[in-house]
Amino acid sequence: MRFGEKQLTHWMELVRTHDDAIEAFWPSQIKSKSWIADKLEFQTYMDLPHSCVIFGCWYGVLADMLKIPVTVCVDKEAKYLEWCAKSYPVWQGCLSDYDYNIHLDGSNSPPDVVINTITEHISQEVYDKWFEKIPEGTYYIIQGNNDYSHKDHVRACEDLNMFASINKMDHNFNYLDEVTYEGPWNMKEDKPTYYKRFMGIGKK
Ligand SMILES: C[S@@+](CC[C@H](N)C(=O)[O-])C[C@H]1O[C@@H](n2cnc3c(N)ncnc32)[C@H](O)[C@@H]1O
Repeated sequence: MRFGEKQLTHWMELVRTHDDAIEAFWPSQIKSKSWIADKLEFQTYMDLPHSCVIFGCWYGVLADMLKIPVTVCVDKEAKYLEWCAKSYPVWQGCLSDYDYNIHLDGSNSPPDVVINTITEHISQEVYDKWFEKIPEGTYYIIQGNNDYSHKDHVRACEDLNMFASINKMDHNFNYLDEVTYEGPWNMKEDKPTYYKRFMGIGKK
């Protein structure tokens, strides 16, 4: 992965103009996004994908890192999409309501790959509805974690087996991985806190 002056300037502008954007640049965030960039090519056996939809795109940092020619950014929050819209077609709403027939990318075919790095943020009902809609034959990349302490994490997982199971990774092609990362300092016991990030690639 290599980022030029233009990309760096874009990210610095994001951080200067949005108070909370720095959260998207924690080492653990960058590491989990790099994992996707690295594995995309090798684990899907695709030539580099031409099109993708990123669900829960946040400030679009993953989209910027992947540089997939046709990338649609989906999020429920307008404040994130305002920024993403400078670079990508965007769709606002709950990811489970996304309609693959609208073809925001101007094509008339399903995306090569869909990405959901927020599986811990959504209920089982919302996840199931989102997963059900992924067009047959499409690659999907998902991530979650075992951080139950965050108020927005309604569907964290104990381990990789649970992650694969509740996220329906039972198709004939699967790749699973986990990465340990350091979370906020444990002030009470004065020691670091470690969490696991779970990653999966599959094909519908
Ligand atoms: C904190 S951020 C990303 C955290 C995640 N761990 C990651 O690394 O990508 C969570 C994002 O998901 C979005 N989001 C949460 N629930 C959503 C839903 N049901 N549909 C679409 N976007 C959602 C939020 O608006 C936010 O942009």
